[in-house]
Amino acid sequence: YVERTLAIIKPDALHKAEEIEDIIQRSGFAILQKRRVHLTPEQASDFYAEHYGKLFFPSLVAYMSSGPIITLMIAKDKAISYWRELIGPTNTIKARQTHPECLRAIYGTDDQRNALHGSDSFSSAQREIRFFFPDCIVEPVATGQ
Ligand code: CMP
Repeated sequence: YVERTLAIIKPDALHKAEEIEDIIQRSGFAILQKRRVHLTPEQASDFYAEHYGKLFFPSLVAYMSSGPIITLMIAKDKAISYWRELIGPTNTIKARQTHPECLRAIYGTDDQRNALHGSDSFSSAQREIRFFFPDCIVEPVATGQ
């Protein structure tokens, strides 16, 4: 199945957006939709609502609303797991030790400012794509029939 997932280039990596979009395309993804947005703290809280109550939540909201981000709807066979693999572990510092070739190791800043986001499941991809691209269809597309 060709899946769609949501990728975010976060504020700390925005200056590398063109380079990152090139890597995304060279890795076989199609970029179907793209938006540059500057979230308000309220919108960032809403997007990351599942982390509400965690110790890092207030600083996550401050980080994600500190500057513009680029949100991308990308598609590829098994896009959700493949994009997560390409970006690597959440914590940039650990990623540099264990997965030095992953995108967070290369473009991330620290344990919180990790340059990139990827939906972690089909249901979060649906929700997250709708959040930024409310008009898009997110059901998987059958191939080779
Ligand atoms: P992301 O994959 O976008 O999803 C939640 C974000 O919260 C994560 O990337 C990091 O930016 C941040 N985050 C997750 N865990 C921690 C943590 N333990 N400390 C600080 N920030 C975190």
